Amino acid sequence: MVTSRIAATGAGIPDQIITNDDLAKIMDTSDEWIRQRTGIGERHISGGEDLSYYTSKAAKQIIERAGIAPADIELIVVATVTADYCTPSAACMVQKEIGAVNAVAFDVTAACSGFLYGVSVADKFIRCGIYKNALVIGGEILSKIVDWKDRSTCVLFGDGAAGVLLERSESAGGILVEELGSKGEDYEVLTARRLAPANVFNKLEPQKECGHVTMDGRAVFKFATKKIVSGVEHVLETAGLSAEDITYFVPHQANARIVEVAAKKLKIPQERFYVNIEHYGNTSAASIPIALNEMNEKGLLHKGDKLILCGFGGGLTWGTLLVQW
Ligand code: COA
Repeated sequence: MVTSRIAATGAGIPDQIITNDDLAKIMDTSDEWIRQRTGIGERHISGGEDLSYYTSKAAKQIIERAGIAPADIELIVVATVTADYCTPSAACMVQKEIGAVNAVAFDVTAACSGFLYGVSVADKFIRCGIYKNALVIGGEILSKIVDWKDRSTCVLFGDGAAGVLLERSESAGGILVEELGSKGEDYEVLTARRLAPANVFNKLEPQKECGHVTMDGRAVFKFATKKIVSGVEHVLETAGLSAEDITYFVPHQANARIVEVAAKKLKIPQERFYVNIEHYGNTSAASIPIALNEMNEKGLLHKGDKLILCGFGGGLTWGTLLVQW
């Protein structure tokens, strides 16, 4: 059977660290409020570089670790809502930077679930025999779309990029089970960068435009805990496994309390969930691959380990993948 397995990980993270205390100097907030409500202590914020700088940095690290020549990369998928341009795609910019002249490159947009959607798409191309490998990167420069005057949202987010190389494999393992879902009817719960139609021939009343992230935090909180629980239950049941068979649960890092509540509902010890939000904040599509790369660098992942990756975000969208390392 053909599957796709994760062959390497890598990341590109801004060097600049902004602590909660740094934020408290420029807005009415405090380290105590942010830590208690979210578990966030600091986040990495771009010093001016755009997304392509960090996605390309991640891509270079991944291909170096995988020992693959750029010309041998067949597919590049970048998951993001903060690409440098509407066009070209973030993936085409990575292609140029790394010299992957033979790759097909495009972006997917599913907000914080984006990396999982990207892996799912790449996995299908590989399983169908169309491509032998795929670079899948999740990256965001959220600092350019948050409202720095809105303390209820800007303190939550951070910047960064990370990803994996997926490779065709004929042995058991790789991406085993997935569950993706979308609920467009609730799209207004979490939006960013509304570009309203505006041209000299407009016949309608001007529409509302909003350049920033807007969010009903409590609604997102409830949605997120529900989707982690149902996603984990679904993939475990589909695979005929129990929580004890899973080495690590790797959730999207939006809020440490969301993970606590979900772990409690699932009756899975909190320590089995990998949480690094304290140092990154919510990096949207980048958060799961940043966590995976960090785990890989720490030597926490061993061949055969089963991981459950779960994400949720704007759209609304969600996804859960069962992966064998
Ligand atoms: N610092 C200090 N006070 C703040 C603050 C900040 N950064 N942000 C908001 N507050 C204040 C509010 O103004 C409010 O004050 P009031 O009671 O005087 O009106 C109070 O804190 C409580 O605000 P509330 O929004 O009710 O807090 P909360 O406990 O619901 O926590 C979130 C807010 C955003 C942390 C929480 O709802 C959350 O994490 N939701 C999920 C968001 C998310 O993960 N989004 C991305 C998904 S991909």
